[in-house]
Amino acid sequence: MKISVIGAGNVGATLAMRIVESGIGDVVLVDVVEGLANGKALDISDAAPIMGHEKSISGTTDYKEIEDSDVVVITAGFPRKPGMSREDLISKNIPIMDTIVKNVKSFCKDAIIIVVTNPLDVISHYIYKSGSFPKEKVIGMAGTLDASRFSNLIAEELSVPRRDVECYVLGSHGDTMVPVVSKSSVNGEPLRNKMNEEAIQRLTERTKKRGAEIVANLKMGSACYSPSAGVLEILRAISNDSGNILCVSTLLEGEYGISGCFLGVPAHIGKAGILEIVQLELEEGESKALKLSAEKTKHSLRSVLQ
Ligand code: LAC
Repeated sequence: MKISVIGAGNVGATLAMRIVESGIGDVVLVDVVEGLANGKALDISDAAPIMGHEKSISGTTDYKEIEDSDVVVITAGFPRKPGMSREDLISKNIPIMDTIVKNVKSFCKDAIIIVVTNPLDVISHYIYKSGSFPKEKVIGMAGTLDASRFSNLIAEELSVPRRDVECYVLGSHGDTMVPVVSKSSVNGEPLRNKMNEEAIQRLTERTKKRGAEIVANLKMGSACYSPSAGVLEILRAISNDSGNILCVSTLLEGEYGISGCFLGVPAHIGKAGILEIVQLELEEGESKALKLSAEKTKHSLRSVLQ
């Protein structure tokens, strides 16, 4: 695959490295800052003899280089500063998307677009709408990241291998995200059989605030290693046309009783993008929380889609 990564900041550069080093595809890294993408690409490429791969990576300021990409990953934009919510980034990050959409339409209009820029669900919707892209081709990355965070915390709490933990995180990539406790399991056993309610509450809250916890520690910039891994998981499903079920942000049109906004839900992912949304049977509280998350997202969206 040819994968273009827009934005050579921490997420973009780490992702570019993950892609070539895992052999998924060749990368074009694009950034408007002169020399930034090229410098990072040269550095990543110099590691190839040691890392043992033959994938190519180049860095540029010129969007023409994204021509014929199979996938475009959008990481460009401003990250949060300590104390900021993801919604606080709307006015700064939306204008950046207009240039990107225009160039994707000019050079690779059939590419699958994976969105990482925050606020994730609103930006994904804006890109889908302003570019008139097919809905299955615009995938917001958040649920893979948030589920990985939740799994990691559960495994740590219970001292079990991470691979034994399965969980889903639905809703928006924000404070109203919904870790789905009723569908979370450890070695096939329901999470509630393994952990008391106090611990579950503590870990779901920590999952929701994990991004902010990292921002508060870093003081400059936000998480990059886990978000880039979240994108890689989606890229693997596309590259293998696996049909694997992953939590992603996509346009809901009646699923879960919600319409008219991008929101995180499980979906089968393959070469064509989002193949089919999976409708989990949620408990009443979870379903209510998901609807609340949709309302909040729609509220933010209204300020963007006039
Ligand atoms: C986070 C950012 C990437 O959750 O939204 O860390």
